[in-house]
Amino acid sequence: MILSEQHESYRQKIREFALAEIEPHAQRLDEEQVFPHEHIPKLNELGLLGMVVPEQYGGSFTDTMKYAIAVEELSRVCGATGIIVAAHNSLCTYPIYAFGTEEQKKKYLPPVCGGGELGSFGLTEPNAGSDAAGTQSNAVKNGDTWTLNGTKCFITNATVGTTFVMTAVTDKTKGAKGISAFILKQGTPGFTVGKKENKMGLRGSDTAFLHFDDVKIPDEDRLGHEGDGFKEFMITLDGGRISIGALALGLGQGALDCVIDYILNEDKSAANRQYIQFKLADINMQLEAARNFVYEAAIAKDTGKRFTRLSAMAKLYASEAGRHAAYWAMQVLGDAGYTERYPVERIYRDVKLCEIGEGTSEVQRIVISRELLRGTS
Ligand code: CAA
Repeated sequence: MILSEQHESYRQKIREFALAEIEPHAQRLDEEQVFPHEHIPKLNELGLLGMVVPEQYGGSFTDTMKYAIAVEELSRVCGATGIIVAAHNSLCTYPIYAFGTEEQKKKYLPPVCGGGELGSFGLTEPNAGSDAAGTQSNAVKNGDTWTLNGTKCFITNATVGTTFVMTAVTDKTKGAKGISAFILKQGTPGFTVGKKENKMGLRGSDTAFLHFDDVKIPDEDRLGHEGDGFKEFMITLDGGRISIGALALGLGQGALDCVIDYILNEDKSAANRQYIQFKLADINMQLEAARNFVYEAAIAKDTGKRFTRLSAMAKLYASEAGRHAAYWAMQVLGDAGYTERYPVERIYRDVKLCEIGEGTSEVQRIVISRELLRGTS
């Protein structure tokens, strides 16, 4: 897709930042499995932590295309940084902005949009992964206070987040329509962050359990409409899937960058091998197609069109294209690509998450086919 001058110069700006500030640390974050705390003020200064929220609540409110470009360019050098930014913006700040009351937006958004704090999203549970409506965490109301119990798992930014949005069953007789959303702060009594996962990839980004043990939440911190939590989180995931598409795209592009660099600087004769030429062309074409899917979903979101199917397609296609690019890059680099000398082995591990997180590829296929059959988008 040919970008406007404005979008192209934005890409250049993020690319320069990512190469100067993020890329030099990417391998270390992965090897040592450490969260890049030192990057957060820099990301914040560039407006990358309030991208889906207007200035009146502390955000930098860019269009979704710029947001996708930012996640893509960060992920091109460091997938962990890409997912930290994607989960924070799409899954925490967005639902507070989209479904919160004026008081909630004024209270909860400024610290996580411009204030340098991070946010997190709790939907997945040990017994409710792809079947998100199977949520078992529950909240019982007594007067103006909810008492929350349950466990969430595989939560991005869990150990570093200060603000959490999450779901719990508030009426177990109503299935998906008996789930509501809540906002809560780190440090609320009874709320603890549990075991941090030792992951295959995206190891600089933290992923952990959340535990709720008789956590008291005032009714004013219930988010959106009571009973609409499932739907609101599905809408949230529609936007989140654009950013995971951008994450996969950036990772795939990073793999292609590495191969091109390798051929130009270390194995010039490879450029004349037809097998390499064919593959370079295929990977380039697939990543461009993925880019079109991601940007088209972003444009649909910004123009107020239903984009559920487009964002699922963007995530699904970009994840497969990104994985394919990483696989092939390793084949070209051979044994050396299997070592830490090149970023390809890290990308290969990182990109796999894109086919799992925010809905597996199978979930995306369900969403796409349902939307088609329902004629909704
Ligand atoms: N937009 C608006 N409404 C939607 C919607 C959407 N995208 N998706 C569903 N709904 C509505 C439906 O219209 C329906 O409402 P009505 O009954 O009023 O028509 C209601 O929600 C129930 O919808 P479904 O019957 O389609 O619900 P389902 O249970 O069959 O959903 C599913 C199936 C699509 C597979 C869904 O469960 C799903 O997306 N699962 C994957 C969840 C996921 O991605 N989890 C990862 C979260 S990321 C995380 O937690 C960790 C992290 O930090 C990143």
